[in-house]
Amino acid sequence: MPVFQATTSAPVNIACIKYWGKRDNTLILPTNSSLSITLSQDHLRSTTTARADPIFSETKLWLNGKEEDIKSGGRLERCLAQLKKMRKERIEDKNPNTPKISEWNLHVASYNNFPTAAGLASSASGFAALTSSIAALYGLNTFTPSEPAVASPSELSLVARLGSGSACRSLFGGFVAWEVGSSLTGEDSLAIQVAPQEHWPTMHALICVVNDAKKGTSSTSGMQRTVETSALLQHRIKDVVPARMKAIEKAIKDKDFDSFARITMADSNQFHAVALDTAPPIFYMNDVSRSIIALVEELNRVSLAKTGHLVAAYTFDAGPNAVIYTEEENVKQIIEIVVRYFPQSDTNPFPDPFKLFAGKQPKAAP
Ligand code: ADP
Ligand code: DP6
Ligand code: CO
Repeated sequence: MPVFQATTSAPVNIACIKYWGKRDNTLILPTNSSLSITLSQDHLRSTTTARADPIFSETKLWLNGKEEDIKSGGRLERCLAQLKKMRKERIEDKNPNTPKISEWNLHVASYNNFPTAAGLASSASGFAALTSSIAALYGLNTFTPSEPAVASPSELSLVARLGSGSACRSLFGGFVAWEVGSSLTGEDSLAIQVAPQEHWPTMHALICVVNDAKKGTSSTSGMQRTVETSALLQHRIKDVVPARMKAIEKAIKDKDFDSFARITMADSNQFHAVALDTAPPIFYMNDVSRSIIALVEELNRVSLAKTGHLVAAYTFDAGPNAVIYTEEENVKQIIEIVVRYFPQSDTNPFPDPFKLFAGKQPKAAP
């Protein structure tokens, strides 16, 4: 009896234009388009193994070794239902001799090699890895030229989106947009690659872990409260994001770091302003986060005066942890300066101290 099992990994993506707000909470349809960079596989990623077996009496999920509850009619079930439907219609119904593994229960085990639910996009890599591992198990993602994809990455992004909105962007590497779409059923709210990583290989992301604890307000509940209470969100959706999407896509195509950095920092700041405009307000950043903003602003001010160009762009997701985008030539300098002001914790959770580090309280305000 063959074993039906597949393991895949997916990296996190960090948004430059933030998704924050749903127009449909069940289908996870956003109130605005968003754009992110997918990090390389070697650092922050989820690795998921999915196994189908007729002896499994129920479908189960383990996250970082601990069994999770599977909510009936919840996100995981919706992703699974979609993948089972694709397997049945595209493979099993067409090939009567193929085992009907879509009818079997699944055991799914996933590990994150970085803090979960801490504002470092674990739901993005998590649901992307879940989708791609089950797609691989079901034979839905064969990418060889002789055997064209049964489900394209954009199609799988629609499935990952049902698990967590930001997950749809982690199905692609490089620079990725998630289109807001206009259909009520969501088939045009998918991820597309704006440019591959090789287009701008000198772009780096430095992950500054300020606090690796689980955040107080999940992204899902936070954005729902924002949609219900924030007037500023309506201005952002209508008057700000559409123009920013166009401008950042152009900056990426032109490899124009100054424009990229200005838009990225402005959008992070507006996202956190919108969180503050929520009732009751949501504070994702803390004093260390704000000191990192001050440091990057100061570095940029000095650099602009000296060279006419910016050197770095900060962005913060729904948590206090900073991501600093910078180009290769500045990586060493930025790390040295950040480490000088924010001493390393003794319990750095990451293997590579130069790319990823945990900050304590700053030594002094920059
Ligand atoms: P984050 O900022 O880390 O994305 P969220 O609040 O958006 O935080 O989502 C965290 C939730 O995502 C977790 O509580 C869990 O339900 C889900 N999640 C995280 N990692 C995985 C994974 N590897 N596989 C499946 N689900 C995951
Ligand atoms: C601030 O994708 O985690 O990281 O769709 O409810 O699972 P759900 O939310 P999630 O929200 C991400 C918010 C963000 C911005 C972004 O990644 O675009
Ligand atoms: Co998330």
